[in-house]
Amino acid sequence: MDSVRVRTPIYTEEDHHTWAELCRRQSVLVAPVACRLFEVGWPKLNLDQIHLPNPVEVSSRIFEATGWTLTDAQNGYLGPTEWFEHLAERRFPVTNYIRRPDEIAFTPNPDLFHEYFGHLAFFMDQDFADTAELFGKLYLNAGDERQRLAIARLWWYTTEFGFIREGGSLKLYGAGLLSSPGELLHSLKPETPRVPFVIPEVIETPGAAYSMHTKYFILEDEGHVRRILKDFAAMEGILFPSL
Ligand SMILES: [Fe+2]
Repeated sequence: MDSVRVRTPIYTEEDHHTWAELCRRQSVLVAPVACRLFEVGWPKLNLDQIHLPNPVEVSSRIFEATGWTLTDAQNGYLGPTEWFEHLAERRFPVTNYIRRPDEIAFTPNPDLFHEYFGHLAFFMDQDFADTAELFGKLYLNAGDERQRLAIARLWWYTTEFGFIREGGSLKLYGAGLLSSPGELLHSLKPETPRVPFVIPEVIETPGAAYSMHTKYFILEDEGHVRRILKDFAAMEGILFPSL
């Protein structure tokens, strides 16, 4: 196992306090609206919610659960090819930067609260983890830039900003919703459009990395993401990867 790809920086007391405050506030906010994968995965991940987690230990825990490891995202948005190459190799890129206290409600930078609180619970589930690997491999099988951009948007509107239908209600599936107090509340407003996940529409909808989204897409069930990848591969004639 390769866990030396993540480093543990030295955090200040203020950093630990920001982490603890975000965990405390966000746990309350997401409790009634988080999807099943988060509800089940978060306690399994068992993060220290008072002190910033040790990335090497967290990487080992995820590796034992699903064979994924964490890797260093160099505290910024990776280029898409580099991002999907990591996914294809079962490595999830994480930053080690924590937002400033005045950015608690919203930060445009993908800080470690976004990564650890928003994403990592999902990687305790084998089916989700395998689907993330398929995302990476499908991206690498794509034939041109248009297809690669489309796959990046499919990832964005599922794993980052998706809703999912569960037991007759809508739950939050995307890490960008689960980890952002501001966007979580915005996404749940009655007037915010939440529409069925229609591939041709999703791939024409640019993501909003630096502001909140104006529309969200709904997954029908946990198997829907895998079906989306298969359907897109078939539509575009891209070889569907094997695990
Ligand atoms: Fe993310």
